[in-house]
Amino acid sequence: MKIERPRGTRDFLPGEMEKRREVESRMRKIAESFGYREIATPTFEHLELFTLKSGEGIVDEMYVFADKSGRELALRPELTAPVMRMFVNECSVMPRPLRFYYFANCFRYERPQKGRYREFWQFGVELIGSDSYLADAEVINLAYQILENLGLEFELQVGHVGILRSLLSPLGNDKASKIMRLVDKGDEEGLLDYMDDIGVGQDLKEKVLSIIDLKGDEGVIDEAKELISFDFTHLENLSGILHELGVEFEFNLGIARGLDYYTGVVFECYAEGLGAQKQVCGGGSYELSSLFGGPKAPSTGFAIGFDRVCEVCNVKAKKDVTIAVISLRGFESHAFRIANRIREKGLRVVVDVMGRSLKKQMSFASEIGADYAVIIGPDEIEKGVVTVKNMETQEQKTLSEEEAITTFLSRTKG
Ligand code: HAM
Repeated sequence: MKIERPRGTRDFLPGEMEKRREVESRMRKIAESFGYREIATPTFEHLELFTLKSGEGIVDEMYVFADKSGRELALRPELTAPVMRMFVNECSVMPRPLRFYYFANCFRYERPQKGRYREFWQFGVELIGSDSYLADAEVINLAYQILENLGLEFELQVGHVGILRSLLSPLGNDKASKIMRLVDKGDEEGLLDYMDDIGVGQDLKEKVLSIIDLKGDEGVIDEAKELISFDFTHLENLSGILHELGVEFEFNLGIARGLDYYTGVVFECYAEGLGAQKQVCGGGSYELSSLFGGPKAPSTGFAIGFDRVCEVCNVKAKKDVTIAVISLRGFESHAFRIANRIREKGLRVVVDVMGRSLKKQMSFASEIGADYAVIIGPDEIEKGVVTVKNMETQEQKTLSEEEAITTFLSRTKG
């Protein structure tokens, strides 16, 4: 019986894994250069961690199960709530701000399509302990640098959920959250129907529709000021610093985000080439620490949809030099010994484990794209040398082991 993998999951072959590792390592390097340090949290958590504040959208999509003791658990759909749980449990007394990053798989029971999976990976950061616009500026700048470094063509949009939330505050939290969700989905018809259903007045309805349509440069803030009395200083300061840093963006006051915990600045990045699932990064500021029983800790962060980024970026995996050590029957232990010696220099070496003839070993070396073949037989052993064949030029030389290693190493540097 042939067993297929579950819907919405993927297998990654070596070529793809090598590309993914290269992308991951670039992301890590940039996050680390900003002082962020890696953390890891469990793959599953108590269900309530996510039901407290992540919002209905995410809760409906969760993989939930009971363990053998009947505890309700969930596979993590995202990492912000787990990171804040960890912060409250383990690090609330550490000097602030804290800068964490993570690279981990997440699970959402969504309808699979291009760029949307049931198991996917996020590369994200959380900057914990500051409510300054500088904190938002840092994480937006970091996300921007990562996507730029990967050569992605993308658009960055910045908004502030506080504006809509303050407008909706007379409706109470539940109704406001439902409206935010409809705005996030871009479901204008559903939004109008819902506002009618709950009896939202004409004036408020028009203001909501006007705010969510505000998109563009600084002029957007002036227009918003006409519609609502709100302190725009944070957004104005953020905009100033992003401009000075050369971070290109546009305002979009209709960004509502699919998760309920955001309180202030929010942002999203969209890349071409992904169809409907073009959002490659999403984030913003929030306060979850006090909700999880810890001290107040205003925070901000983002998560990059790692799989989506890998699909559209042109990063090539670095190709390591590969050496195939080929031996005549009876000389296998010599082949193993020489292979180990070359590996000690950090090179990649394969040896025959199939008991194949010299000819078959050679054609396998060529099939796997080996750069060199090192051939050993009785003559080589007697003279203390190896025969090195450059698989590309077919040129063959007799060298000492040291000379052979120097040749391979010079190829890795070139
Ligand atoms: P999110 O927008 O739900 O935010 O997810 C972040 C990114 O994960 C999305 O922009 C998207 O690229 C990717 N993503 C989401 N769902 C899928 C899926 N089914 N398949 C493939 N990729 C997907 C969060 O998760 C927040 N925790 C981000 C954050 C961190 N906010 C503050 N700190």
